[in-house]
Amino acid sequence: MTAQDPPLADLLIRGAMIYDGTGGPPVAGDVSVQDGRIAHVGEGLAPRAREVIEAGGLALAPGFIDVHTHDDMAAFSSDGITPKISQGVTTVVVGNCGISAAPSPLLRRDTPVPPLDLLGGREAFTFDGFGDYLAALRGAALQVNVVPLVGHTTLRARAMDDLDRPATTAEIDHMLRELDQALAAGAAGVSTGLAYPPARFSTTDELVALVSRVAQAGALWTTHMRDERGGVVSAVAETIDIARRTGARTLISHHKCCGESGRGLSHATLQMIGAAREELSIDLDVYPYTASSTVLIETFARDSREVTISWSEPHPEMVGRGLAGIASEWGVDEGTAIERLKPGGAIYHQIDEADVERILRYPPSLVGSDGLPGDVNPHPRLWGAFPRVLGHYAREKGLFPLETAIAKMTGQTAAVLGLEAHGRIAPGMVADLVLFDPGRILDASTYEAPRNPAEGIVGVFLGGRAVWSDGAATGAGSGRVLGRHAADPGSDARA
Ligand code: ZN
Ligand code: CU
Repeated sequence: MTAQDPPLADLLIRGAMIYDGTGGPPVAGDVSVQDGRIAHVGEGLAPRAREVIEAGGLALAPGFIDVHTHDDMAAFSSDGITPKISQGVTTVVVGNCGISAAPSPLLRRDTPVPPLDLLGGREAFTFDGFGDYLAALRGAALQVNVVPLVGHTTLRARAMDDLDRPATTAEIDHMLRELDQALAAGAAGVSTGLAYPPARFSTTDELVALVSRVAQAGALWTTHMRDERGGVVSAVAETIDIARRTGARTLISHHKCCGESGRGLSHATLQMIGAAREELSIDLDVYPYTASSTVLIETFARDSREVTISWSEPHPEMVGRGLAGIASEWGVDEGTAIERLKPGGAIYHQIDEADVERILRYPPSLVGSDGLPGDVNPHPRLWGAFPRVLGHYAREKGLFPLETAIAKMTGQTAAVLGLEAHGRIAPGMVADLVLFDPGRILDASTYEAPRNPAEGIVGVFLGGRAVWSDGAATGAGSGRVLGRHAADPGSDARA
């Protein structure tokens, strides 16, 4: 090679419509990758690369960031994470809704209290310390990057024997010590799950104590709020109050308005969030479906159009069936049927389409899946959330242009998470990329058949290496732990 020749790139993707993640319109061009980073973006790049992919006008976007997951343990296995990489996801935020795999919540108990069992039984909780969990992630061949949160309910279960009351000062101190350890080890923040029984009795002051610590560390607070039905307006008010008192960067998880009592309240909540955003750092994420899914809780079922069992330890034969039918077969009311089916989970059809669309359209909202990888009969969001936003809501329903939809799962998300080297296609950024057919992309999973890989995803690249190609995982794994911690050897901050 002569001195004038450009260096040989590792990968060159030619002739793509490049959606750079900023929300701007796409530009036709080529992208080259060197040492895991994007080297050049332009038109007519010399085809000097070890591998050249002719995109033929397909869309090229930054890898999608799933801002709301329960992939704490699924991230370790190819089967566990295939639902995500098959839809173009290259980064997952784990430890949401107050639920994290570490530090083990079994310190005082033999079994995980619901909803911690969303992650699995005893076998899911083998890491004594948050640092042990991060070390295991760093030692694994991850097929995605992982942004780890520590769960408030997990910390609460370690600090308290009886969870049905506010924490004492000593118990709050216990949680604060362990929160500090997790943050020092590399946690990106804390999550709360205030709608769930083991966290319901925590007072606003308990939360302010924890979230203040998170704010001091420059970390993130994500929250599954106390109420997502008729009381959602006061739950948003409490969230804004805590954000104001602590100064923490705040992310409202899977924002929705459930049941008849919640219908239409997104008008009010989005107005409150918009006003608060003028002075505070408050963001929100949303999944594109009218059904929620979590563990079996009677009050969640009461206000639902229909409830389908997603798993049941004592009655696996009832998985996939409707609660009403099970109750009538057993000759009991639905509350009694739920007690018999526990521990278990369900899909609750309880959200109005107009609220889903209003929240999705709201410019600051981010896309997350909230998929539950351990469920026997999972909610279709696990395999379909991102292609559904791109195919159903952007292309078919015209809710927003494709570039807006992409920004809600890439550039906007990276900005909220503080991931400076991810979420955009530009020279120097990490080469997490997804190549897809914008005319075909669509979710293929349904409530009846929930495990179908999406249509239209052509290739998914993590640090420039294909992790998904020709409809299958390649097995390559160079994912990293990402977070705010500058000293984290695996984090963005190093490179
Ligand atoms: Zn949640
Ligand atoms: Cu969740």
